[in-house]
Amino acid sequence: MQLNTTPQRTITVSAPATIANLVCGFDILGLCLNHPADEMQVTLTDKSAIHISSTDGYALPYEASENTAGAPLLEMKKLLPEQTGFDIVIKKNIKPGSGIGSSAASAAGAVVAANHLLGNPFTREEMIQFALFGEKAASGVKHADNVAPCIYGGITLIRSIFPLDIISLSAPPLWVTVVHPQIEVRTSDARQILKKQVLLKDAIKQWGNIAGLVAGFLQNDYGLISRSLEDVIIEPVRSILIPGFAEVKKLSIGAGALGGGISGSGPSVFMLSTDEETAHRVKDQMQKVYEGIGLDHFVYVTSINTQGVKLINH
Ligand code: HSE
Repeated sequence: MQLNTTPQRTITVSAPATIANLVCGFDILGLCLNHPADEMQVTLTDKSAIHISSTDGYALPYEASENTAGAPLLEMKKLLPEQTGFDIVIKKNIKPGSGIGSSAASAAGAVVAANHLLGNPFTREEMIQFALFGEKAASGVKHADNVAPCIYGGITLIRSIFPLDIISLSAPPLWVTVVHPQIEVRTSDARQILKKQVLLKDAIKQWGNIAGLVAGFLQNDYGLISRSLEDVIIEPVRSILIPGFAEVKKLSIGAGALGGGISGSGPSVFMLSTDEETAHRVKDQMQKVYEGIGLDHFVYVTSINTQGVKLINH
């Protein structure tokens, strides 16, 4: 491959958190958040190796093939001149196992940074293809509902990953409240407990909701969005892993949220609201539930990030 590398050898990127599934859209809908975001510094080297370090104390695997930032760059390297390597320094602000796209942020951030340093030889779709190897390293499965919104920004529909077919969806203003109870749910475990077959009546309800949610976003129809935020297939199984889930949902909707559910594979739970004030009322209710249970938690009130991974010093 012929490269037009930039004179710049080092770039810092901000790689945002994302919410996968968007309640009814298991593996096919995702949304990018303004907060929190990881910070990553990537340096282009001529050592042919990928070196990974972190500044945050999380026990991440540093072997490139097992690391969610390293695995995508190993794939990218197969198309690059032999003497191309990368040094990656990760500052994780998105806790691994929190359900808000920690592995995707590392994968997408590394790929976007590397592509920039190489002079942008790869398209966004190709970057997603590389980033999917990070998800595979993390959970054993290539799912694009975190990496696609992380790279594209906004809300994305993944109609297919083989072949890749991603559609950006417009939406009315939405505020997002996310609560992260301080327990860890591994995506691989949360996938293993799912039933392999669904009843036709549940499938009909689910695809009605997915279509309704997509139409609600495109038509700026808050009522339709709210009615469509229902999951009859995944949530009944996975919510068992999340203490206080039913109560958080009930009180949040009582406080005015449009609806919500499990963020990614959990344990975080998210709610969508039409305005900031409601999103803060939802936050209060979420806190009330976890204070009652006596479980440590973080709550974020944020909005949709329409940009995705951001280059900071370029
Ligand atoms: N769609 C994936 C899952 C997202 O729910 O397993 C994981 O963040």
